[in-house]
Parts: sequence; structure tokens; C-alpha cells
Amino acid sequence: MSDAWIDELTPAHVRNLDVYQPGKPLEELERELGITGAIKVASNENPLGPSPRAVAAIPPALSQLALYPDAGGFALRRALSTRLGVGLEQLALGNGSNDLLYQLVLATCEPTDEVLSHKYAFLSYRLAAQVAGRTFVAAPTTPELGCDVEALLAAVTPRTKLVVIGTPNNPTGSVVTRAGAERILAGLPQRALLVIDEAYAEYAAEWPEIDHADGLALLKKDKRVVVLRTFSKIYGLAGLRVGYAVGHRAVIDILGRVGRTFHVGSLAMVGALAALDDHDHIAISARHARAAVERLRAEVRGPGVHVYPSLANFVLIDCGRPSTPVYDKLLRAGVIVRPMAAWGLPNHLRVSVASHQDMPRVIGALNDAFA
Ligand SMILES: Cc1ncc(COP(=O)(O)O)c(C=O)c1O
Repeated sequence: MSDAWIDELTPAHVRNLDVYQPGKPLEELERELGITGAIKVASNENPLGPSPRAVAAIPPALSQLALYPDAGGFALRRALSTRLGVGLEQLALGNGSNDLLYQLVLATCEPTDEVLSHKYAFLSYRLAAQVAGRTFVAAPTTPELGCDVEALLAAVTPRTKLVVIGTPNNPTGSVVTRAGAERILAGLPQRALLVIDEAYAEYAAEWPEIDHADGLALLKKDKRVVVLRTFSKIYGLAGLRVGYAVGHRAVIDILGRVGRTFHVGSLAMVGALAALDDHDHIAISARHARAAVERLRAEVRGPGVHVYPSLANFVLIDCGRPSTPVYDKLLRAGVIVRPMAAWGLPNHLRVSVASHQDMPRVIGALNDAFA
């Protein structure tokens, strides 16, 4: 049956979008495979769970649900402003940090403008451009699949409006160095912004011996920097959908013009505010992730297998063979990982860190699958 009628009422850039393939819910997979107790290490969530402070703060806020949330997100922005040492007017909240990237494209890109990142950058950068009908340009990477600063700069054109780098990047776990980020900024056209996606910044802070860019320090030097952060990762609040952007007040002002009103719910803001001060949860989660990444790198083995370094809460694994049969074997062992074919990496899998208790099973299943 043809759906030609919908083609007639849809712009080509929308018709041509890839459909996002969400991972199946854990319960659905367990039912299909006839197993119980599966471990999901596919979405870079915090295996230690949500911030207990957030969990405690939300129930008392339930009685206020009849009211619209504070559209300005004042309490959370004020807390972030104090924490980060930036002005209130330099902060915007989003329905997850992804939301803010979509807003940035909408707010800054003319129809002919380009969004530039690299080939193995987080897929949302491409999607955010394509949903808005803008061109996404993917620069080549280093042989280790990380951001190649010179190649990125070589791909800058007069139409480049946003340059987006994830540091640490998903799915590679790689970072851009301080000097690398400064070099990008120095080569950035005056009419462009450098978006630094720091979704995993709190994890990277656990590796002080490794040089990596500091978006907020760069923003202090150059108004063209926008930093994106999220409560979905180390704070363990992916289900609430809260992220924030830090930038020059003029950039935050234009973001506010395209963002929808009331797009961050009241419970989400209450949870995020409580989690921000949950230093114990953050410290334990960061320490756990580093130890788990080190274990994965040290203990996962197999012919042709390479586990990439990572400063985040996941690792990228080159299976040295097509990853689909490995993925299927892992599924049957009750370990759900993320295949990387959508990134153009058909031999690779991304594996998030598991809880302390589940790590031996994840490592055992990987080694069995690679044997
Ligand atoms: C690099 C990167 N940026 C942003 C996000 C999205 O975060 P949020 O849940 O805040 O939209 C993710 C989530 O996987 C990510 O890996």
C-alpha cells in the first residue's frame, strides 16, 4: 500500500530522515528470549541508579502537579549559576541536552548553513541538523576514531555555523585536548559557534592525569563557545529529561526565543536541583565508572578484539569481526549492548559500565562471545 499522499505533504528533508530505532525495553527482550535477569548496558545510563537526593526530593513536589512549572527554571538556574560561577542569564534549561542542540540549530542556522562535526561523533548532531533541513558535514577522524582537529578545521566552509564536539565523545569515549579545543576556536569563522557537548564531563573529571578540554574555561575566553551538560548521565536522571546550556547571554537569549514554553517539567527540575548537590552519588558514580572502564579494558579479550580507551561510562569495542553474531550471543546470555552499525561501524559494539555486581557477568559474556 502506497503512502504517496504523505510524501506530498511532507518536505523532502523530513521524508529522507532515518527513523530512530530505539532499543527494546528490557522486559520485552526478556519475554522474547524467554530469560530473566537480563543486564542492559546499552544506553550509558548510571548503573548505580538515580541520585538518592533526587528520589527523596520528588515525592513532596507531587502535590504541586496541578500547576505549570516555572517556565524560567529559576531555582535550578540559580543553583547552576552559583555552582558554575556564571551569570543566570548565561544558562538555559532543556528537555535533556539534546533538546538544546536542536534549539541551537533552529536558532542559528540559515537554510544554507552547515553543522560540522566528525564521522564518529554522537548521532544526534547529524539528526539535529537534518531535522531542521540543514546540511551536516562529517570530518574524517584520527585512526583511533577520535576528533582530528586539523581535519575538522579543513572541513570548515563559509557556510559553517555550528561546530559540535563531544568530549568525551559518544560512542568513542575519546576527548579533545585543551590545546585541541583552543585550536578549533582559533580556526572557527567569526560567524560560527563552537558547541562543546560535555554530557560525560563529570566522568572525565575522574581522570585528572589525562588532558582534556574544559568548555567553561574556554567560554570565559570566547563568547562563541556553548557548553551542553545533562542530568541524564552521572546524576542518574535520564528518565526526567533535564539538560542545560551555558553560553554568552546573547546566545542564551536567542535559544530562549525558539525553545517551547514549559518544556522542562516541575518534577524534573526538583530532581535535578537535589541531584546537583549529591556530591556522594557523583563521586561514587565517577569512581565506579573509571574502575569499570579499566576492568573492561584489562579483562575483555579475544582474537582481533580492541577495547578503546574511554573517559566516560562506556567503552567502544572493535570485535575484529562483524558485531551482529557477537551481539546475538550476548543477547542470549542476557547482556544487552549497543551495536554500532548506525555509526558506520559494523564491527563495533558499545558497552556501558554495569553495576559492581553485574560487571563479572558482562565481562564473562563478552569473553565467551569472543572466544
Ligand atoms: C554525547 C552525548 N550528548 C548528549 C546526550 C543526550 O543527553 P540528554 O539525555 O541530556 O538529551 C547523550 C546521551 O546519550 C550523549 O551521549
